[in-house]
Amino acid sequence: MSPEEFRKAHPENEFAGASGVLFEQAMAQTRMAICLSDPHAEDMPIVFANRAFRELTGYSQEEIVGRNCRFLQGPDTDPREVAKIRTALEDEDVTVVEILNYRKNGEKFWNALHIGPIYNNAGELIYFFGSQWDVSDVRAARAEELYAKEMARELSHRMKNMFAVISGIVNITGRMRGVEAEAREINRRVQALGRAYETTLDEASSGDIAIGEAIRAILEPYDLGTGRLKMQGNGLKVPFAVVSGVGVTLHELAANAEKHGAWSTDEGRVEVSWRAAGENNGDLVVTWRESGGPDASSPSGDSGSGNAIIDRLIRHAEGNITREWKPGGLEVTIEFPAR
Ligand SMILES: Cc1cc2nc3c(=O)[nH]c(=O)nc-3n(C[C@H](O)[C@H](O)[C@H](O)COP(=O)(O)O)c2cc1C
Repeated sequence: MSPEEFRKAHPENEFAGASGVLFEQAMAQTRMAICLSDPHAEDMPIVFANRAFRELTGYSQEEIVGRNCRFLQGPDTDPREVAKIRTALEDEDVTVVEILNYRKNGEKFWNALHIGPIYNNAGELIYFFGSQWDVSDVRAARAEELYAKEMARELSHRMKNMFAVISGIVNITGRMRGVEAEAREINRRVQALGRAYETTLDEASSGDIAIGEAIRAILEPYDLGTGRLKMQGNGLKVPFAVVSGVGVTLHELAANAEKHGAWSTDEGRVEVSWRAAGENNGDLVVTWRESGGPDASSPSGDSGSGNAIIDRLIRHAEGNITREWKPGGLEVTIEFPAR
């Protein structure tokens, strides 16, 4: 039955005249599958289904009209969803369910089904209205997203575990060899790296990471909320490979600032900023600027091993570091090249 035939057959329900023409055109054009069932006929058969319904299910008009809509269900359809529909129909409620249905060719699809009662002017129930929407793709995407989140959580768990084991090994070895201070120094470096890596997990699938989040995590223990640390930068994304260089460098700079630099005084300040630079904005530049601390016009006796580690990691990432000891404080610029 076409929309035209349907409205001719049901003039009593105001499908006649202008609204009837509107109904006919809307039903024919919408991409939303729609059907109407007669609640007063035996087993509530479908009395009308539009073109989109036929395209969605693969059945012809003759195969649809006169049957109860449950013919779309199959062995894997969840009976709890069917029961929800049954209750809603009994209560004349509007309901939305996601139910597994089958096309004529046997293919399964997830149907976001919306059902509601239709009343006439006298307030009497005349039809149930159903609209069907294939949400199989949406559900697959949702499942993939969920899987990625679970993987990230698991990765995070294992990484924390690994960092804890490394810390434990370093501590015990340090104690047994009588080099506890050195062990602590190594552990602080390892933990700074751990914090930086932790921020990158959400984006592990893309390969690029938000460097600002990693920087904030590295410097978090040094930010006492007193205004002595200022961070400036946007949500810049950079390749994952730079995170170790940035992480260890900033950790060493912060540790040195506490020992000999700006943070060895109450007034000292550090400003850290990061930005994209170079051709196509592909380079990363991180600047560390100390001020208000002791005179830094000559290099302080900072730890040689720290600098050696920094230089090595930056060289590994094909980056560059410049240190300037200015009267106002140490200024360091780290550059990582275009990807
Ligand atoms: C207008 C209307 C549209 C419906 N559309 C669907 C549908 O697309 N898929 C489905 O599985 N069930 C659909 N149903 C639900 C079934 O027709 C039936 O009401 C349900 O299976 C509960 O009844 P039962 O327990 O007697 O099977 C629809 C019901 C109505 C009234």
